[in-house]
Amino acid sequence: MIETLKARAAALRPELVRMRRHLHQHPELSFQEYETAAFVASELDKLGIVYEKGICGTGVVALITGRNPGRKCIALRADMDALPIEEENETEYTSRNKGVMHACGHDVHTSCLLGAAALLQEYRDQFEGTVKLIFQPGEEKNPGGASLLIKAGVLENPAPSAIYGLHVYPQLPAGTTGFRSGQYMASADEIYITIKGKGGHAALPQQTVDPIAVAAMVITGLQQVVSRKSNPLSPTVLTFGKIAGGHATNVIPNTVELEGTLRTFDEDWRREALAHVKQITSQICAAYGAEAIIDIPDGYPSLFNDPETTQQARSFAEDFLGADRVKDLDLRMGAEDFAFYTLHTKGCFYRIGTSRNGGQYTQPVHNSRFDIDEEALQTGAGLMSYIALRALGC
Ligand code: NI
Repeated sequence: MIETLKARAAALRPELVRMRRHLHQHPELSFQEYETAAFVASELDKLGIVYEKGICGTGVVALITGRNPGRKCIALRADMDALPIEEENETEYTSRNKGVMHACGHDVHTSCLLGAAALLQEYRDQFEGTVKLIFQPGEEKNPGGASLLIKAGVLENPAPSAIYGLHVYPQLPAGTTGFRSGQYMASADEIYITIKGKGGHAALPQQTVDPIAVAAMVITGLQQVVSRKSNPLSPTVLTFGKIAGGHATNVIPNTVELEGTLRTFDEDWRREALAHVKQITSQICAAYGAEAIIDIPDGYPSLFNDPETTQQARSFAEDFLGADRVKDLDLRMGAEDFAFYTLHTKGCFYRIGTSRNGGQYTQPVHNSRFDIDEEALQTGAGLMSYIALRALGC
């Protein structure tokens, strides 16, 4: 099966390039993927694959049924949204939507899943079970399209016993892939703190509650959560990327605003760390007569790759690509809303290399010059269909 599937994936290459370039030229922001979803639907129509669209706005969920469709279901997921970045590449497929760019490769993920759909539809007489294809909105934006789709029932009727997702990875060359079982990506919670003091004349601090001085202590105090409260064996990051308050050398302002992010790899510790953040902030503020208003909206959980599912997928990748083209990945402090699926079902989130040996296409994701070696598309589509076929007992 491997050689014929590889040949089919190679034959699909012009289609994969066409789809990826179309999506790359027409990027849409999170939860606004209307044309992208319509494009996905039209490609599924061409393949004769049934789907439901408009889920949570722009989500598309399709089913490919093999023999004995009730036996087992697995899910394959792609995200569809782009980023508010002005593309700086000059290619024939540069973004035509000013200020919006597929700088995280979600155009690649969507094309690879459409390619895998084409291959699986061809092979549907050869596997037993059902493949659920999830084209997801809003990966880049809280609360994450995955969390909304799960609430809308995407993991039911039929319920997949495993879910797989891929992501572009410029650190590896096209034609290779990377896996990590167990903890892989961090949780990410956004933290918004307003410190309310009492403003006044800078020369008369005794008549004020200076929120800038209190903010400095809050930031320093909160670093204790990382250095003294967290287990050194479990990575934790707390960064405040924004502090805003005041406007003149001689005026003490009324308020200061802090915005930051907490990253962890353990869901129990994540909850505990957020409780520490709230408690330390409130108590430092109270000690100096200021008031803390703390807002921490639900963020993305940490991503845990089920060890058995991931080791199995890794061995399928070795069979398909050759062992020398399958690499181990490091822990990653970035977050990914695929993690929501892994709270409900066994998941495997893996990487496909997108750079070219010799140093081309090495710009990182979320960069205005990010691009890929399109060789990666057939690897992505071919391997994803192969993993699905093997997971369903082919
Ligand atoms: Ni991404």
